[in-house]
Amino acid sequence: MSTRKGVVRFSISLPPKLVNEFDEAWKSMGYDNRSKAAHDAFRSFISEHKWTREEAEEIVGAIVLVYYLDKPGLLNEIIRLQHEFESVVSSVMHVHLAKDKCLELIAVKGKVGKVRELSQELAAKKGVKQLKFAAIAL
Ligand code: NI
Repeated sequence: MSTRKGVVRFSISLPPKLVNEFDEAWKSMGYDNRSKAAHDAFRSFISEHKWTREEAEEIVGAIVLVYYLDKPGLLNEIIRLQHEFESVVSSVMHVHLAKDKCLELIAVKGKVGKVRELSQELAAKKGVKQLKFAAIAL
């Protein structure tokens, strides 16, 4: 890591497919370079994290996750977690994306801390490809 003129340079390791997808995304969004796009992506990542640290606040929102059906026990585990957190789960929509891939949209309402806990436990499951949490403060 090196610091020069108020910027820090460092290297990170990412799968090539992810880099290609990121490059395609920022180019189509009109960014001039990868650094600015990464800056905004980092900023957005941090904002989301900061927001979800206000444990006692009430929120409504949606957890959207994409996962693979062929991971043993994953579907059961996702359902089990929804039952464990039934105090904040309002409703669930399941979308079959492909033979082996599903999307689940979980509408949530309740304390940030509880919603975050559910979200993190889902994200940590092996076979969950991606998870997004969209929160709206009440
Ligand atoms: Ni499905």
